[in-house]
Amino acid sequence: GAHGPLAGKRVLITAGGTHEAIDPVRYIGNRSSGKMGVALARAAVNLGAEVTLVLGPATAAVPASVPTVRVESAAQMLEAARCAFEDADIAICAAAVADYTPVHPADHKLKKAYERLDVVELTETEDILATLAANKGERIVIGFAAETDNVVAYAQDKLARKDCDAIVANDVSRADSGFGTDTNKAWWITRGTIEELPCMSKDDLARKILLNACGLDA
Ligand code: PMT
Repeated sequence: GAHGPLAGKRVLITAGGTHEAIDPVRYIGNRSSGKMGVALARAAVNLGAEVTLVLGPATAAVPASVPTVRVESAAQMLEAARCAFEDADIAICAAAVADYTPVHPADHKLKKAYERLDVVELTETEDILATLAANKGERIVIGFAAETDNVVAYAQDKLARKDCDAIVANDVSRADSGFGTDTNKAWWITRGTIEELPCMSKDDLARKILLNACGLDA
């Protein structure tokens, strides 16, 4: 069997962005590379966990040792995350999920000459992190907060609203942190604690998050 502080634990990680279809060739997306979530999955495997990585569109390479469910849209990510959550002990939501999705995705390529492309009606997606947290029972649920300003205050607000056990707040305004980078500047925030972490590699931050998550257990 596996050894390490996460031996016997099942860990679900969401990562990457999502693509919300406008028509068969166009979508709404974001700049998540998947690096942070893939680093978490790799670190969890190294610490002895059984991992499920639910990965949206991303450019980061996924090691063959990480069991991965590939998805495209926020709706597909929710369904795959819900499914893996049933057997999970710890869930970490590092994905950058689209907040809105087109109400009526077209089944054919929209033609600029004849159809409206300048207005796309949107509806809010379901919040995956909040949905998992609302059904967590004994599980530990950890979210991320991507902020450009008032990082800690906004993250504390997300911790309370989404009712999770901890939030990793990362500063996405810095050139060396957030979307697409190999390093990240973050704060580990629980109810009543704030730990400011130095900017470090996403691999090192991933290990730190998982070891902190073990501490929440006790
Ligand atoms: O992938 P990389 O290029 O390595 O970049 C990493 C990252 C910046 C994407 C990552 O570190 C990060 O911050 N992920 C969360 C991005 C985000 O969408 O944050 P948010 O503040 O909008 O969302 C807060 C939390 O709710 C997140 O845990 C998010 O996964 C979750 N959420 C949001 C909306 C939604 N519909 N469902 C969700 O689960």
